[in-house]
Amino acid sequence: MDFKSLALEYKTPLYIYDFEHIKEQFESVKEAFYARKSLICYAVKANSNLSVLRYLGKLGAGCDCVSVGEIKRALIAGISKYKIIFSGVGKEDSEIAYALRQNILMLNVESEEELKRIETIAQYMKIKARISVRVNPNVDAKTHPHISTGLKKNKFGVDVDTAKRLYIYVKDSEWLEPVGIHCHIGSQILDIEPYKEATKITAELLKSLKALDIDLKFFDVGGGIGIRYKDETPIKLYDFAQAVLANLGECDVTVVCEPGRFLVGNSGYLLTKVLYEKKNGNKRFVVVDAAMNDLIRPGFYNAYHEIEAVDKEGQKVSKADVVGAICESSDFLGKNVLLPKLNHGDLLIVKSVGAYGFSMSSNYNTRPRCAEVAFIGNKYRIIRRRETFEDLIECETECLVRGNV
Ligand code: LLP
Repeated sequence: MDFKSLALEYKTPLYIYDFEHIKEQFESVKEAFYARKSLICYAVKANSNLSVLRYLGKLGAGCDCVSVGEIKRALIAGISKYKIIFSGVGKEDSEIAYALRQNILMLNVESEEELKRIETIAQYMKIKARISVRVNPNVDAKTHPHISTGLKKNKFGVDVDTAKRLYIYVKDSEWLEPVGIHCHIGSQILDIEPYKEATKITAELLKSLKALDIDLKFFDVGGGIGIRYKDETPIKLYDFAQAVLANLGECDVTVVCEPGRFLVGNSGYLLTKVLYEKKNGNKRFVVVDAAMNDLIRPGFYNAYHEIEAVDKEGQKVSKADVVGAICESSDFLGKNVLLPKLNHGDLLIVKSVGAYGFSMSSNYNTRPRCAEVAFIGNKYRIIRRRETFEDLIECETECLVRGNV
């Protein structure tokens, strides 16, 4: 990629996504489940840019959404409503009603109370709600504790016995229709064993429900497939699919999976400009124009993202922390990064930021969020303009006009 021209044309900091990579990743998942009916519902939270959604939709993806906002994004991007799933532990009444009105594929239910609310709302709307219960299999995904979701101590889903009880309840409800079963144990998973264990538990429940005449059509294995940031060895998709299919045996279900990071993570680059170099004692800092508001993963999870200087190959390097302008010590993009001597205006690229990069960015310190550019068909296209200061204060200016303060 021509990062220098990109910086000139679109300014920095800037997110750039290689759409060809997204396509390759999507097709590799599709391929892994080739022998089976399958539906890939992209986890919108990883990168919710409308162009990313539209592109994946055209490839055949559905969407896993966790808010009405995400459902609206998916619909605007042209995703078929029958490929949209609504997950999340805290769905509001209005969100449930919206999802029912849109007639999306199914709602992934995370608690008994939620199930009853869905039933009440469905009855009020005279609509039968298609649901799937999220099973918490109590399996350790062996990933960062912040992104582990399949243990009893996590807030997600219900245990197997509760799930079974809920399905029996649903079976007799006039306003609920059981169509799927769901399980998602965490994110950035690099070990196949937790998947094997979790899908085994969920598949056994599926089979025991069939014996009770509860015939589910969708077996949703969640997302979580890890990617390489540094030297990780990702799970082979073939092994992943085989693990799922082996547990399913003869069950005639559509396998749903909800990859987010796997589809978009390695497609993304954050291009940033060097502002200053400084030393505090012996410690070297490179201050750049991107910050934790643009990419929070390093500060939040201590996550590693490779950082490279543009056009500085072969120069002598030394360790430096790459930091932003925000008033927090957790505002760093990389620690002990080997970098050459840098001058004001030099460019750095932060890699593998396509997932949970822009989508977790904020306006902290009243910093407008970056522009986003797609690299598609050998061309660069802007897919989100840079925010302006006016964008940031728009929701507050009304108060000034009305003289509220
Ligand atoms: N399905 C459900 C129900 C989820 O909660 C998630 C992610 C996914 C699918 C997609 O997971 P993926 O394939 O992307 O691993 N902000 C964190 C990741 C949080 C993941 C939350 N749930 C990070 O930056 O690492």
